[in-house]
Amino acid sequence: MAFIVFEGGDGSGKSTQIKRLRNRLARRRYLYTFTREPGGTPLGENLRKILKTRSDLSPLGELLLFIAARQQLINQVIIPAIDSGKHILSDRFTASTVAYQGYGRGLDIPHIVSLNKLATGDIEPDLTILLDMPPEIALSRMSGRKKDTFDNSELSFHKRVRQGFLEQAQSDKLKWLVLDANLPANKLAIEIWNKVKTLL
Ligand code: TYD
Repeated sequence: MAFIVFEGGDGSGKSTQIKRLRNRLARRRYLYTFTREPGGTPLGENLRKILKTRSDLSPLGELLLFIAARQQLINQVIIPAIDSGKHILSDRFTASTVAYQGYGRGLDIPHIVSLNKLATGDIEPDLTILLDMPPEIALSRMSGRKKDTFDNSELSFHKRVRQGFLEQAQSDKLKWLVLDANLPANKLAIEIWNKVKTLL
């Protein structure tokens, strides 16, 4: 059983790569559960709406809602998937909280790491795939899309978030795959598959 997470700044092409990997897993008849954060459970989807639209949340309140959504996901989705022997694919996980609430919002990182641990217990991804690109490019790619609270944050926020992902990847190289999100989608999909298939 493998637990694989996709991370990346907003507008990095993460959804396209997730779709491609899901298609490949389905074609090869692998049993897997797909989920996303925040979300993936009824409570989590409600919290997602609040998190994406409420600009009056305090940074700490925001952090705690992400953590609450994650705990619910662990109990209702991830543990049952592990128990039934399925692989798990998630659009974002704990590293997003360190990058956005820690590096981005400036909350204390050791506290975030402990809260993540409290919410997840011993469950950690086997692989986190980071689609990395400069936020200037990612934001310009998103110019036509509907934007939420995070998408509207200033460029310096997104630069800190990017640095947050890169530093996490750097400190745990075996469990991260960092890809240049500017590469053609086909090439990225092949690199992702070459890595993922070693874990299945
Ligand atoms: P989403 O629409 O899923 O964004 P994306 O397509 O970029 O994944 O919205 C989720 C937003 O929530 C995204 O901007 C990142 C942010 N986020 C955090 O700030 N902390 C977290 O712990 C998680 C999981 C997400």
